[in-house]
Amino acid sequence: MIDMHNHILRYVVKLPVHPTEPNMETAVRMAQIAQEDGIRTIVSTPHFRPERLGDQAAEMYEILHSAVDTLNAALKERGVDVEVLTGAEVAMSELLPELASQGLLPTLAGGRYVLIELPGASYAAYAEEVLFKLQLQGYKPLIAHFERLADAPVKHISPRILQERGIRLQVNCESLMGRRGRSVQDLAQRLLHDDLVWALGSDAHDPEKSPPRLTPCRGAVERAGGAGTFERITDKRPATIIGRKSG
Ligand SMILES: [Fe+2]
Repeated sequence: MIDMHNHILRYVVKLPVHPTEPNMETAVRMAQIAQEDGIRTIVSTPHFRPERLGDQAAEMYEILHSAVDTLNAALKERGVDVEVLTGAEVAMSELLPELASQGLLPTLAGGRYVLIELPGASYAAYAEEVLFKLQLQGYKPLIAHFERLADAPVKHISPRILQERGIRLQVNCESLMGRRGRSVQDLAQRLLHDDLVWALGSDAHDPEKSPPRLTPCRGAVERAGGAGTFERITDKRPATIIGRKSG
């Protein structure tokens, strides 16, 4: 399985703007939990918020790549059979096209897909325009935990229209487990039912409260999307996003 959304990197290095005290043992523990769950690939997606990063964007871009090398070396040394790939959870911003043209937009596994978090608190009229501009620049947006917009004013961006424009959607396991409330869970189920989901994520932030596991929501995924859906969104489709063979 491929975990498309994971904050393990905060324990490897002190990240600008969102510092957590690094602790490699915690990062290794998270990777072990993922391995026990059947996850072989973790896409590392620390928050990348251009408005807050300001002139630290280039530094953050560099760190989120180098820290993945550090983490993979530590996992190899300890015999943990999980590969971590580079990426970021990029906050929607009018600055994204400019960062992209500077080569500072972190993509998933170094490919063309970018995990983008849409603003939940207020409707951003510019969001659709920015997504379109990025597509013109050759990038492929993957919207992070789209179901969490269930109660947001931005929800009138129709998931089906996004799909028709080639924009993909990622859903969080915890949403399907009901941990973000009923309306978020309902939207996640509807997206699965309508076959609009391209990747599943643990959105893991730590080993205890939000661990990197995907199998706990296997039943919920299959109930909403039918047999074969879980494999499709934890293996086949995410493999195409990160440019790997599935299985
Ligand atoms: Fe996240």
